[in-house]
Amino acid sequence: MTSVNAKKYLFANWKMYLHLEPSVLLAREFKNKLTNIPEDIQIAVFPSALAFAAVSDALKDSPVFVGAQNTYWVPEGGYTGEVSAEMFARSGAQYALVGHSERRHQFHETNHEVRLKLEAALAAGLTPVLCVGETAAEHKNGTAREAVEVQVRSAYSDLAWPTNRPFIIAYEPVWAIGTGNTCSPVGAEKMAGQITNLARTLTGALPAVLYGGSVRPENVATFLAEPHLAGVLVGGASAKLDSWQAIVRAAVTAD
Ligand code: PGA
Repeated sequence: MTSVNAKKYLFANWKMYLHLEPSVLLAREFKNKLTNIPEDIQIAVFPSALAFAAVSDALKDSPVFVGAQNTYWVPEGGYTGEVSAEMFARSGAQYALVGHSERRHQFHETNHEVRLKLEAALAAGLTPVLCVGETAAEHKNGTAREAVEVQVRSAYSDLAWPTNRPFIIAYEPVWAIGTGNTCSPVGAEKMAGQITNLARTLTGALPAVLYGGSVRPENVATFLAEPHLAGVLVGGASAKLDSWQAIVRAAVTAD
């Protein structure tokens, strides 16, 4: 079956893996090595807040976009330690991850806060990338579908998606992130189909659903072959030049 999405998204979530200098060096290498990327493949990196401005600068005039890993919803003010969606947007961000499971579980981010961040990202002109996914316990006890449904509903209920903004959701099972235990492509496809239908019913727009969780050069093509998967969100393997280049190459070949 052919994909329901025209574009393929390859997103590199650098998390807190890289200090400032290696972030800029890696960004420069991406710029120099990732050439001849077909127009239907969109690559973006999500550096730390510290490295964001320098990475954004290093990637100017390259086909690689930049995004924020986490944003605050108030545009500016007395919020010690936070960086707003508005600030990232004005520093060159195109995208913002919203509700990554490490934010939800390690920093106790609620569905309500995720919704506020999603709305603020849209208001700032960014394309939010909502992250959803079930925990290991939910996976085991057979409630994964319900868990993901709650996250999707609270993010998009009564929200008309702006027509000028791509609509992107990342399905990242928590038990697959950073563990080497990838979800099967068939399992990811099934959940992506459910997410697509629900998100479309809620917003009237067709989302591009990405898979994330231990994506590697050797498995990326199996996910991209699934009709409801429009790309991948990659953590560990995106923070090294060799593995990221191999992932991009595999995606271009599979295109
Ligand atoms: P991983 O992380 O590729 O290291 O599993 C994915 C993510 O958290 O976005």
